[in-house]
Amino acid sequence: MKKDNKMKKILITGGAGFIGFFLAKELLKSDPKDLELVLVDNFKRGRKDEDFDLLLKDKRVTLINADLTDPESYKQFGNGYTHVYHLAAMNGTKLFYEMPHEVLRINTLSLIYMLEWFRKENADGKFCFTSSNEAYAGGLNSFGVLPIPTPEKVPLVIDDPYNSRWSYASTKLVGELFVIHYAKAYNFKALLVRPHNFYGPRAGYGGHVIPDFCERIRDQVDPFPIYGADDTRTFCFITDAVRAMIMLMDSPKTDAQPIETVHIGDTEEITIKQLADKLFVTTGWKPKSLDIKNGPEGSVKRRLADISKLQALTGWKPEVSLEEGLRTTYEWYKAHPLKKS
Ligand SMILES: NC(=O)c1ccc[n+]([C@@H]2O[C@H](COP(=O)([O-])OP(=O)(O)OC[C@H]3O[C@@H](n4cnc5c(N)ncnc54)[C@H](O)[C@@H]3O)[C@@H](O)[C@H]2O)c1
Repeated sequence: MKKDNKMKKILITGGAGFIGFFLAKELLKSDPKDLELVLVDNFKRGRKDEDFDLLLKDKRVTLINADLTDPESYKQFGNGYTHVYHLAAMNGTKLFYEMPHEVLRINTLSLIYMLEWFRKENADGKFCFTSSNEAYAGGLNSFGVLPIPTPEKVPLVIDDPYNSRWSYASTKLVGELFVIHYAKAYNFKALLVRPHNFYGPRAGYGGHVIPDFCERIRDQVDPFPIYGADDTRTFCFITDAVRAMIMLMDSPKTDAQPIETVHIGDTEEITIKQLADKLFVTTGWKPKSLDIKNGPEGSVKRRLADISKLQALTGWKPEVSLEEGLRTTYEWYKAHPLKKS
């Protein structure tokens, strides 16, 4: 078939994961015609559930089951993509502590192979790498003087290489360097985004605070454990988050060199205890007592992104309130308990 100029060809790695799935849904909604959407995943964490099966029924979507740490995989991807969103990674706080060596190997190797494939096969395309707020968490911990709200341009620090938690952050930190310098050396368009606590349905089980709270409320766990009760975070509902990613990738303002790094997140800062309280109100269940515990080693006390750059580049505003997002998320977790095999 002759490729028409308006046709968009998009690849999402980690397409079966939390962000990848919602990003695919949003792209299908906003680009109704002439879209070719390829999802790549090895299902190490992503799920082939009924939601995902429904997505695959769309004729514009193709699934490639491939492991990005295998260089042979890339032969299946073809070429000439307009946009590539590289989301695949070993994510989830539990994994950072359980298998830090695998987090390091998988995240770094898959990014290097991706960039090699991209520069050879997609000279006119644009590459998006999902870094993380964890990339600057070490700076918050060790200096305690990073501005809050925190802008993009701050020192990126690994304050303790022996703490397994930094396995993940280090792959994001070095990942940012890889993308900046590959894009410069091979002169391709690229973008670094740093997600700040995206949440919503289908975000996995175990290892993220909102899914954990939803599962404990559904199971009426009492006393109710809360780790790092006084730590503050912001939470960005997933449909708002993927909309920001697409707006940034579609904007010609992010086409130039040097490439942009952009924070994506909400600005309503709340403590983890306040988050639990909001969920108790939303769900109508409250435990008799709380079991307050320390946050995991290396977890930062306060995190709030400066999102003025995102807003200046795109005019993005969140549309889903925390209450509404928590309600939607809880309903999903209530209806989808983890199937224990
Ligand atoms: N969710 C957040 O709030 C958040 C915050 C900061 C950064 N991020 C980053 O955004 C990206 C997506 O996050 P997510 O929450 O959707 O995570 P996720 O774990 O739900 O999705 C990642 C997907 O990548 C796939 N994958 C992992 N290794 C692979 C490999 N070798 N080959 C092919 N597929 C592989 C997994 O199976 C999974 O489906 C990640 O890079 C993550 O580090 C997310």
